[in-house]
Amino acid sequence: MDALTSIREQSLEALESAASEAEIEQLRVRILGRKGELTAILRGMGQMSAEERPAFGQKVNALREEIESALQEKSAALESAQKGARIKAETLDISVPGTAQPLGAAHPLMSTMGKMVKTFVRMGFSVEEGPEIELDRFNFELLNMPKNHPARDAQDTLYFSENILLRTHTSPVQARTMLKQKPPIRIICPGRVYRADELDLTHSPAFIQCEGLVIDEGITMADLKGTLAVFASEVFGEGVRLRFRPSFFPFTEPSAEVDVSCPACGGSGENCRVCKGTGWVEVLGAGMVNPRVLEMCGIDSAKYTGFAFGIGVERTAMLKYNVPDMRLFYENDRRFLAQFSKGRL
Ligand code: DAH
Repeated sequence: MDALTSIREQSLEALESAASEAEIEQLRVRILGRKGELTAILRGMGQMSAEERPAFGQKVNALREEIESALQEKSAALESAQKGARIKAETLDISVPGTAQPLGAAHPLMSTMGKMVKTFVRMGFSVEEGPEIELDRFNFELLNMPKNHPARDAQDTLYFSENILLRTHTSPVQARTMLKQKPPIRIICPGRVYRADELDLTHSPAFIQCEGLVIDEGITMADLKGTLAVFASEVFGEGVRLRFRPSFFPFTEPSAEVDVSCPACGGSGENCRVCKGTGWVEVLGAGMVNPRVLEMCGIDSAKYTGFAFGIGVERTAMLKYNVPDMRLFYENDRRFLAQFSKGRL
């Protein structure tokens, strides 16, 4: 076997087993490089006779081209094999079931509150907040409930000291707002309140209210009725009726307890557990702000009048969604909550 044939066979064989671009490059250098085997043979032609040279030169060049194109082919084949392997490795199997991400949703108390806030904000009210740990002065005194007033009995709470307590209603925000802002005032105050009540079907020691207060010249009970009518039809649906029953709150005069026609039976009362057959359910307390409260809070009661109301949010949500037990709102059982989340929980 002559030298050219042996280089050809060796290099094609080595190329066959080359498994990487680096190995191919090594082979190129070994055979075709400046110090390569084929280059050495070409140099050796100097010792040949002038007749032999052209034919031998042609053979060497032909071999060089053959090896070069074999190198190129191998390199292309390697590249496409690598690409193929990568594509295969990266293929997505779109038939594999996905991992479901459970989506949360607003708690029914929060969505009820959200609906109320939106309704009042649309009527021009702004939202005020106050502290849950409150001074006796704001929670009672300025609302016309001096120490030892019997109306305090219904609102027992936790005391941190003689004058610091967990607020029993959102009404102290009325006093706070009147002291810092002159009329016209048009606010609502949503928030958590506390009482020394046992947890049962309709009571909780911590619950939520939404207070409202409007003070301006010429405000009358008709404004209160109109405002609450909008609230009732937005929250319970059109066609719901309101009923004002005379009542007593130290901070309003006159005062009313306000009922809506029972959303469960449509007000007929027939066999209705929710309204106990009366056709009406109480949702809030309201009234015209007692002039004494206005005066204590620095507002001229000869010039200004106002109305106020306090809505029970749990009570409203129970009626809106026909929930028979208030405790369900606090237990966070997903089977209960999922019913308010369009099945997303
Ligand atoms: N604060 C009262 C309560 O918690 C509710 C209430 C009644 C608020 C009449 C008012 C109101 O602003 O005018 O029982």
